[in-house]
Amino acid sequence: MSVIEVDNLTKDYGHGRGIFDVSLQVQKGEVFGFLGPNGAGKTTTIRHLMGFSNPMSGTAKINGIACNKQASKILENVGYLPGEVALPEALTGLEFIKMMQGLRHSNDQVRLDYLLDIFQLDPNGKTKRMSLGNKRKLAVITAFLADPDILILDEPTSGLDPVMQATFIEFMEMEKKRGKTILLSSHIFSEVDAICDTIAIIKEGKIVSTVHADDIRHNQNKMFHITFGNANDVNQFKTESGIIASCIDPVRHIAEVGITDDEVNRLISVLSKYHVESFKEIKYTLENHFMRFYEKAT
Ligand SMILES: Nc1ncnc2c1ncn2[C@@H]1O[C@H](COP(=O)(O)OP(=O)(O)OP(=O)(O)O)[C@@H](O)[C@H]1O
Ligand SMILES: [Mg+2]
Repeated sequence: MSVIEVDNLTKDYGHGRGIFDVSLQVQKGEVFGFLGPNGAGKTTTIRHLMGFSNPMSGTAKINGIACNKQASKILENVGYLPGEVALPEALTGLEFIKMMQGLRHSNDQVRLDYLLDIFQLDPNGKTKRMSLGNKRKLAVITAFLADPDILILDEPTSGLDPVMQATFIEFMEMEKKRGKTILLSSHIFSEVDAICDTIAIIKEGKIVSTVHADDIRHNQNKMFHITFGNANDVNQFKTESGIIASCIDPVRHIAEVGITDDEVNRLISVLSKYHVESFKEIKYTLENHFMRFYEKAT
């Protein structure tokens, strides 16, 4: 049984807005990245998982429990970071932390000190005077405070500076090693690339792609840009070499070649007959994969 299981979840807000037949599964110990353009339906899906919203059809379950039926039980076992953090303004950060510890029936000072130290947050001082980044840090700390086995994080690094984003990624790698099951939404490809095992892309309320990150990282298809010394060489290479190439820059004599791993040696030996100035592999990254879905025409 998957830890997180969403089946044909639909919430139609009208005018094409909402989520439609969204299905996804997150296995125990897996880090699942949920990507998609603004307004695609990430937060809507996540809010159903937290039991804050009732689906029109379909189900959202965590550990087999229907999230909308037993929302308080879900909240007990899941660390949640909302996309928009709303903190009670009258409280200090520490008072808020204590309040959340009370709700979770956990009072682990060692864990709290550890998290405050990692995220370098001084929790004293009213939340309303905290900077956006510090509010987000406080919410991140709160999500991980009771050390839950399942975490649902809606854009966890938004508002964090680049150093803190890197700290967060390191922290997530450690939590992953500790066997946590994590679903996170994000707009940051490098973050998703660094920590996610499986990635789903949602667009206009529908899942349009689900991939295992390793399949993209170890892609058999390779692309090279080869700069030839002159126009004659690039033309001869195109017509005589037996390798399919397209000239992408006639002025600088650059050809693009797409081949598989086992053709690399042949390419190199064929190229030795030509005057080659440079030879560069264009990596097919997760970002290349994702961007296809962000572009409008897809
Ligand atoms: N309560 C609501 N009533 C009406 N429409 C809503 C409601 N909540 C969300 N929507 C619409 O549903 C769509 C999905 O919104 P959602 O917040 O899930 O997107 P998102 O993927 O989280 O985007 P972002 O990356 O900007 O956070 C949007 O068109 C949004 O306007
Ligand atoms: Mg959102």
